[in-house]
Amino acid sequence: MCGIVGYIGCEQAGPFLLDGLERLEYRGYDSAGVCLNTGSELFVKKAKGKLKVLKDLTENGKTLHGTVGIGHTRWATHGEPSDVNAHPHLSESGRFAVVHNGIIENYQQLKDYLTSKGIAFRSETDTEVIAQLIEYYYKGDLVDTVIKVLEKLEGSYALGVISKDNPDEIIAVRKESPLIIGLGENENYLASDVTAILSRTKTILRLENNEIAILGRDGVKIITTDKDEVHKDTETVEWDVSAAEKGGYEHFMFKEIMEQPTAIAETISPRIRNGRVVLDEIKLSDEELKQFTKINILACGSAYHVGVVAKYIFEKMLRIPVEADLASEFRYRDPIINDKTLTIVISQSGETADTKEAMKEAQRRGSHVISIVNVVGSAIACESDDVIYTWAGPEIAVATTKAYSTQLAVIYLMALYFGEKLGTVVPEEYTALVNELEMLPAKIEKVLENKAKIQYLASKYFNSRDIFFIGRNIDYALSLEGSLKLKEISYIHSEAYAAGELKHGTISLIEKGTPVIALVTHEELIGKMVSNIEEVKTRGAQVMCIACDDHPEMEQVGQTIFIPKVCDMLLPSLAVIPLQLFAYYVASLKGCDIDKPRNLAKSVTVE
Ligand code: AGP
Repeated sequence: MCGIVGYIGCEQAGPFLLDGLERLEYRGYDSAGVCLNTGSELFVKKAKGKLKVLKDLTENGKTLHGTVGIGHTRWATHGEPSDVNAHPHLSESGRFAVVHNGIIENYQQLKDYLTSKGIAFRSETDTEVIAQLIEYYYKGDLVDTVIKVLEKLEGSYALGVISKDNPDEIIAVRKESPLIIGLGENENYLASDVTAILSRTKTILRLENNEIAILGRDGVKIITTDKDEVHKDTETVEWDVSAAEKGGYEHFMFKEIMEQPTAIAETISPRIRNGRVVLDEIKLSDEELKQFTKINILACGSAYHVGVVAKYIFEKMLRIPVEADLASEFRYRDPIINDKTLTIVISQSGETADTKEAMKEAQRRGSHVISIVNVVGSAIACESDDVIYTWAGPEIAVATTKAYSTQLAVIYLMALYFGEKLGTVVPEEYTALVNELEMLPAKIEKVLENKAKIQYLASKYFNSRDIFFIGRNIDYALSLEGSLKLKEISYIHSEAYAAGELKHGTISLIEKGTPVIALVTHEELIGKMVSNIEEVKTRGAQVMCIACDDHPEMEQVGQTIFIPKVCDMLLPSLAVIPLQLFAYYVASLKGCDIDKPRNLAKSVTVE
């Protein structure tokens, strides 16, 4: 939530700030702003609405003057989206400007104190207290002042600070919220995420919690809050700049849907060697693995839906009880978890606050945590005991597609890896599954080729008020994802139901013409699913099915999208594709802002 950029160098800062903010817009897009040191003042330009408004106001940053500046794209927490609540925030006299990602939990207390000292606030944000505190405590040394202010702050923050009196410095600091430094020649950058700076440099430094970076034109110094210097190795980012661009597609979401075969191949291939799954990332010995009596999966949103799929797969293949938990619920229910529980944490961004805090709770209770993360070096990746990266590349669209699919791929790898170690998967089955897994990207290509039919079905249903998704077993887990994808980007009300549960209440919502999308991919459950489909058809539902191509008779049951037949474990990877495409086409026909749906942001760094 919220994106931060900063530039200090010899060029005009404006164009980079605007370009960087555009690349970070997925983090929040209700307002945006920049502040540049012009030499005589801190000049601020802010605008409510998407970044385009600010881009138009500043001619893509060209009308801004100054070679040092900071910028911000906002997802509102404290104070409605408005020009005045947009960042950067200035101190009362305009000497200091601050951009912030995170939440200052004790801001009201600090605000009351400063107000009692006669300081007037302009905005309703928690962030403004930081700018005002800096001015209040400033005695001539900005670094000392920032350190003093940090002592007063409770909560999470990534901050960029500039001062009118010092055009040669940006101060940056983080606690819990992400921040990286990009290193260039006679110029340096600040950003919430590498995607903002990839077009300029691939050499970065990662700031750790409570480290303070002092960015100058010729270098970057990193210190602790005790002012001890920290010497860090630089990292080279492997992502290519084109991976974070649309590359001719109208939307990132469509591009990312189409990238799934490659993303899955890149996630799987390096981990299958000579027909065996090798997960070097897992440091547990075979003996330690055998000690676990339970698996606990923690995640939010779509990543949680991967966890629900994993529950079915792990329980079937490993014969261990599995709980898939919403991370936001887990922490507050005194969970029964200890060192005999293996915790798996799933997160694309590796930043999701609820997931991160749930992970820490599991660790406090003695559980070993393996994370499945896409963003290298993110907080969850660094703080988990072991991390398995999904090599999906940058995912920009708020609605996840390729990250979901690569997370599923890691679940398959883990099921095979653990199954072999625990002896719950027999060798013939193991070999057959590994072979099928290697062929998965090609099968996904086949499903993607069928997009015209899905587009046609979307054109039939895009005006619907409600759309239901039903399934049994893993198909139920998948229906949760299909429903979320649709409502998130098309704003159509949708519910996912275990097909057998419909008649316990929800079937009363089915009326003439209600679309129901039925997932019918599991051989042994086809009969039961067909009965449930008949029940809704009898009440007037229009049914669209997703079924395997070895059951052509499904065409008589409802309008059917066929996917290639694969083993049960891999079915979700194929069946999710039509669901993603359906949501995409419906949202497109409705004219929705597909990559930036209303009220949402991609990285949810607040609880
Ligand atoms: C899915 O399309 C969503 N954007 C959302 O549910 C997402 O999966 C969730 O917020 C978790 O994010 P994470 O994977 O970065 O932790």
